[in-house]
Amino acid sequence: MHNFEFYWPVKAIVGNGEVKKTGIEAKKLGRRALLVTGRSSVRSSGLLEKVLVSLESAGVDFVLFNGVEPNPRITTIDQAGLLAKKEKCDLVIGLGGGSPMDSAKAAALAAVSPEGVSVWDYMFCSKNFRKIDVVPLPALLIPTLPATGSEGNSISVITNWELHQKVHLMDNALFPKTAIIDPELTLSLSREQLAYAGVDVICHLLEPYLTTTGDSYVKDRMAEGVISTVIDILPKALQSPSDIEARMNLSWAGTLACSPFRFMAWNGKGFLHWIEHCLSAWTDLPHSEGLSMLLPAWMEYMSRYKFFKYRLDMLGKRVFNGSAVEGMERWMKEMNVKTRLDKSAAEKIPVMCDTLIAVYGGGKEFVELPSGEKMFKGDFEEIYRKALK
Ligand SMILES: [Fe+2]
Repeated sequence: MHNFEFYWPVKAIVGNGEVKKTGIEAKKLGRRALLVTGRSSVRSSGLLEKVLVSLESAGVDFVLFNGVEPNPRITTIDQAGLLAKKEKCDLVIGLGGGSPMDSAKAAALAAVSPEGVSVWDYMFCSKNFRKIDVVPLPALLIPTLPATGSEGNSISVITNWELHQKVHLMDNALFPKTAIIDPELTLSLSREQLAYAGVDVICHLLEPYLTTTGDSYVKDRMAEGVISTVIDILPKALQSPSDIEARMNLSWAGTLACSPFRFMAWNGKGFLHWIEHCLSAWTDLPHSEGLSMLLPAWMEYMSRYKFFKYRLDMLGKRVFNGSAVEGMERWMKEMNVKTRLDKSAAEKIPVMCDTLIAVYGGGKEFVELPSGEKMFKGDFEEIYRKALK
């Protein structure tokens, strides 16, 4: 078990119908909100209207920013921050999937940043890197997708399309103050969206679980519990779309899996997420789909490292009652998600690997694993190629 600090300053309100509390909770944080959403789904599902009514009845004023695209661009986020500044907002609300929530947290930072500073300047790989030395506006997040866990963490994943870099910004200043996790809001998702969401949730724990060195009994068992829950519950939610109990469990599993609980007591990291971020930074694939297409190949390739194989066997024994690689892929096929990358991605593999080393190598020509072993460009090329159909 590795030493750790655990800090989780988020008030989570979890349950059916809790979205009605949006106005009351927002009022505790500010008077005028920048409401950040995607381009259409929250409007067509009627959720936006519900949230606006709740804000109005609580006397919270708002400005709508509904320009967030999937894989949100830094240009969009800086724009949202400028709007919050211009409109003198003192609160940000993020409503939707991972993209609007990540954008809301970053816009809360952009809104208080000095003139001329882009949120990209705070990214660890930025040439103009600067530490966060301002206090972002308070944020309230309302997820509609039980996947990213953005509502419970201090991470914002942002894409710079000019550089083809998709990178996470992580800082305690980015924690939202409040998260309203209402499983009813997931009812408008398609079967496909829900299935891929489940894969993302599993990956959030599976990656650090498999790449940590040494055991952490309490943490290992907690993670196995959450992973097993998703494996059991997702088929129920897919078969019976109105099963709210299944969606409630799935939603809370999603929040926990990517909360600070994710790395607690482990030294493993979200390595597959790094590989996926380089894939979608060049192809614009949706995040969870990209993960799903890479996961079996990544697990198989990584099993050559002794420390990884040890953890893989443990996962297999405790969760899959057999081989973890085979068990995972079998379950994914049952969920009807893609487990292989489309051949059209092949031509981008060299540039994706260059990006990976440039962003995560820390100036070196390799990425170091917690075991001290090194992964070079050729290793990542092999993983991407293994994932091709
Ligand atoms: Fe993810």
